[in-house]
Amino acid sequence: MSASASSIHFEQPTSFSFTPDNMKVIEKIVTKYPKGRQASAVMPLLDIAQRQHNNWIPEAAMEEIARILDMPKIKVFEVATFYTMYNLAPKGKHHIQICTTSPCCLSGAQDVLAACEKRLGIKSGGTTADGQFTITEVECLGSCVNAPVFQYNGDEYYEDVSPEIAVKLLDDFKAGKKPQTGTQRKDRFKSMSAAGATCLTEQAQKAGVRIAEEKK
Ligand code: FES
Repeated sequence: MSASASSIHFEQPTSFSFTPDNMKVIEKIVTKYPKGRQASAVMPLLDIAQRQHNNWIPEAAMEEIARILDMPKIKVFEVATFYTMYNLAPKGKHHIQICTTSPCCLSGAQDVLAACEKRLGIKSGGTTADGQFTITEVECLGSCVNAPVFQYNGDEYYEDVSPEIAVKLLDDFKAGKKPQTGTQRKDRFKSMSAAGATCLTEQAQKAGVRIAEEKK
């Protein structure tokens, strides 16, 4: 894979408009909030802007959101710059967001990060010269029970990832494959203990899920 680290060169567009379809969705979202509290819709609107604009949010979109929600631009900027799920610059086609918060770190996230950096020839925060991959270190992704975890292109989670599995996943993405999401462990069902179900065993049995040895 490409060996040179870089950021993608880009320019901020001078204007931004939501598509008519997205405006219909936005109108529905805004009605969920009491009058005068429409600023609370800022997060879903940022998400819509990002999905519409090739996975990143330009400043013009934030200004448009501020106009629609009748809130100060700086408030929109504050939210967009706080959360790592919002991209404020273009990312590679495959955006790998690796959690390195404590539970993931204790489970080997730094080794996963190092393996990805080595495989792609970039450092965290960089994008491969061919624009295919970006690696970003992020805070807790809320899936600590299956640590280490990385998020793929904002929507998919890959969990229980070892350095070897991470490299294999990168190769699969590059080859245009869509690897199975969720836990990568063969001995775990979703986020259940690898030893098997230890509670709600009757329900687990009905679902065909393994029961922990001591419960048998
Ligand atoms: Fe990594 Fe929570 S610490 S998902």
